[in-house]
Amino acid sequence: MTSLVCSLQFLFLFSLILHKCSSYPASSSSIINPSKVKQVSWKPRAFVYEGFLTDLECDHLISLAKSELKRSAVADNVSGKSKLSEVRTSSGMFIHKAKDPIVAGIEEKIASWTFLPKENGEDIQVLRYEHGQKYDPHYDYFADQINIARGGHRLATVLMYLTDVVKGGETVFPSAEESRHHKASVKDEDLSECGKQGIAVKPRRGDALLFFSLHPTAIPDPSSLHAGCPVIEGEKWSATKWIHVDSFDKTVNVGGNCTDLNDSCERWAALGECNRNPEYMVGSPELPGYCRRSCKIC
Ligand SMILES: *[C@@H]1O[C@H](CO)[C@@H](O)[C@H](O)[C@H]1NC(C)=O
Ligand SMILES: *[C@@H]1O[C@H](CO)[C@@H](O)[C@H](O)[C@H]1NC(C)=O
Ligand SMILES: *[C@@H]1O[C@H](CO)[C@@H](O)[C@H](O)[C@H]1NC(C)=O
Repeated sequence: MTSLVCSLQFLFLFSLILHKCSSYPASSSSIINPSKVKQVSWKPRAFVYEGFLTDLECDHLISLAKSELKRSAVADNVSGKSKLSEVRTSSGMFIHKAKDPIVAGIEEKIASWTFLPKENGEDIQVLRYEHGQKYDPHYDYFADQINIARGGHRLATVLMYLTDVVKGGETVFPSAEESRHHKASVKDEDLSECGKQGIAVKPRRGDALLFFSLHPTAIPDPSSLHAGCPVIEGEKWSATKWIHVDSFDKTVNVGGNCTDLNDSCERWAALGECNRNPEYMVGSPELPGYCRRSCKIC
C-alpha cells in the first residue's frame, strides 16, 4: 500500500515536472546567449545583441505589419477616412502581445535578455522607413502624468532591426559619451553623416539594440536622446518594445475616469473590434482610444 502511494506520488511529481518544462518555449531560438551582446555605450547604457531574431521571426513581424497596413487601408476607405491611413502608414502599427506563438516567443526572449517582466512591456510597434524617412532626436520617457499613469515611466527600449539597410538608417545617440571601448569597434566610413553625430548603431537584420532611458536611480537619463537617421539607400523595418518600470497590463483608471467616448462602443467590442481595430478602440498611451471601457483596458 505504501509503495503504491509512493509510486503514485512519484508519477504525480513527474507529471508536474513535465508540465512545468513544457510551459517554457521549446524552440532553441529562445535561448539567450550573453556572449552575443556587445556594449555600445555606458552613458546611456546601450547594448546590441547580434542575431537576436531569426530570419523567420523578422519576416513574420514584417508580414504581420504588412497585412495590418493593408487591412487598415481598406477599413479606412470603406468609412471614407482615407487620409488617416497615410498617417498610419508612416507611423507604423502595434502587434498585440502574444498575438501568436512566434510573437509570444520573441516577447519571452526579450524578457529573458532584459530581466524585465513581460507585463511591463507595451505591444511591439513595427515601423517602416522608406527613402529619406527618419525619426528626429527624442527621448522615450514622457514628462506628463497621463502618459506615466500606466506602468510608470518607460525604463528601457528594445529596438529590433528586421532588415539590413544599404545606407543610412542608423540609430544614433547624439548625447552619448564616447568611451575608448567604442572607438575601436565602429568604423566611421561605414556611417552616414547623421550617424557620425554621435554613437551610432547600424541596422542589421536580426540584431537588437537595448538601451535604458532611466538611470538605475529611476531618474530620466538625458544621454538616452536618440534618433533614427534618414534612410539613404534601401528600406528599413524595425520593431520596438518599450518596457515600463511597472506593469503595463494592469488596468489603470486615470482619476477614476474610465469611459467610452462613443455610444456604440459596447456593440463594437462585442463584435470583436477591440482586437480588429485596436488603434481606434484601445489606442496607445500617447493617443488613448475611444472605447477603453468596453475593451476592458481601464
Ligand atoms: C479601397 O482600397 C483598396 C486598396 O487600396 C482598393 O483596391 C479599393 O478599390 C478601395 N475601395 C474603395 C471603395 O475605394
Ligand atoms: C473624464 O473624461 C472626459 C472625456 O474625456 C473628460 O471630459 C473629463 O474631463 C474627464 N474627467 C476627469 C475627472 O478627468
Ligand atoms: C460614434 O461613432 C459614429 C461612427 O463612427 C459617429 O458617426 C458618431 O459621430 C460617433 N459619436 C460620437 C459621440 O463621437
